[in-house]
Amino acid sequence: MSNGITTLRWGVIATGLISSWFVDDLVLSRKDAKAYHIIQAIGSSSIEKARAFAEKHLPGQNPAIYGNYDEVYADSNVDIIYIGTPHALHKKNCLDAISADKHVLCEKAFTLNAREARVVFEAAKKRGVFIMEAMWTRFYPLTRTVISLIHEQRVIGDIQRVFCDFAMDQKIASLGPESRLKDPALGAGSLLDIGIYSLTWGLLGSDSGIGAEAQTPEIAAKQTIQDGFDVATSAILLYPNGRQAIVSSSNLVNPKSNIICTIQGSNGHIDIAGFPSAPEYFTLYLKDGSSKKYEFERPGRGFYWEADAVALDIAAGRVQNQIMPWAETVRVLELLDEIRRQGGAKFPQDEVA
Ligand SMILES: NC(=O)c1ccc[n+]([C@@H]2O[C@H](COP(=O)([O-])OP(=O)(O)OC[C@H]3O[C@@H](n4cnc5c(N)ncnc54)[C@H](OP(=O)(O)O)[C@@H]3O)[C@@H](O)[C@H]2O)c1
Repeated sequence: MSNGITTLRWGVIATGLISSWFVDDLVLSRKDAKAYHIIQAIGSSSIEKARAFAEKHLPGQNPAIYGNYDEVYADSNVDIIYIGTPHALHKKNCLDAISADKHVLCEKAFTLNAREARVVFEAAKKRGVFIMEAMWTRFYPLTRTVISLIHEQRVIGDIQRVFCDFAMDQKIASLGPESRLKDPALGAGSLLDIGIYSLTWGLLGSDSGIGAEAQTPEIAAKQTIQDGFDVATSAILLYPNGRQAIVSSSNLVNPKSNIICTIQGSNGHIDIAGFPSAPEYFTLYLKDGSSKKYEFERPGRGFYWEADAVALDIAAGRVQNQIMPWAETVRVLELLDEIRRQGGAKFPQDEVA
């Protein structure tokens, strides 16, 4: 404990982009922090990379530095492993961390497909460790407010349609074949990289249930496949009550507006602005002509909200989180599997028995 709040000691696996964003946020000083986070260890494919990462992102701190991942799993001062490797490595990294009896927060997409996720959750269940997919957007106060307004307070009435698009020109043509954004064996494609957020908003906007309590929509999907991975995906989710969610992603173009998601109901609509992964504000428009803009304070990028929730779960002895429970991760991956089945994107790992 520090200042009376729960302390969690993190071992960070990989020193790429997302790991840098994550640790930058965790060491921010925050007035409303619900937990205190220590970056206890950094593991990388090379000790030089791990050292350079710590010098850049954790100045004045003294994390243990390892030139591999195994020593992070074995470090008795580490409570939880944060996994920031490409999606295709998540299954192995999670299983290795679980074998060492560590708790785990693993980046999205949690695994390449639902089958891999079930294997990981089964292992976590056997060892009794906490594990969660790092679907950080669901923990934003903005997201929790939207969910409360539409599903609990029903301010826009009966929901009829949800639209969400995540488009980002990732300069794919200029990347080498070894890039995680180009290599299908590393999980390349717009769907698992950014389309997972469009799908998340489609699900959260359409239905108050998550995991086992969620309704199952029918899916109609198309993908544009180039060089063996999807550069664009569009899917329609049709719910039993007739609601539709239209979700899309592209890694070839940038968005045409800063409104990334619209939720339409019988009494008005909500426009959400920013990035689908990191929304900034939203505006509620009611049929009577009134409107209200909702703005939120967000120092840094907002990764500490999920990290605080994880710390509180672990302190309370829980092995899963109620905002992103295991069944929800599996459900999302089953829907992603179905979108890929219809759209044609495949990973070599899909064929493994
Ligand atoms: N939550 C978000 O908003 C968000 C944003 C971006 C990415 N992500 C997720 O985070 C994960 C990593 O994405 P990233 O953008 O951080 O990737 P990245 O910049 O390419 O970094 C990935 C890191 O993984 C390690 N690695 C191990 N084996 C590798 C291999 N065969 N090829 C490439 N890297 C390998 C490397 O670190 P070492 O050499 O240090 O071991 C590398 O720096 C993905 O699953 C992605 O979906 C999430």
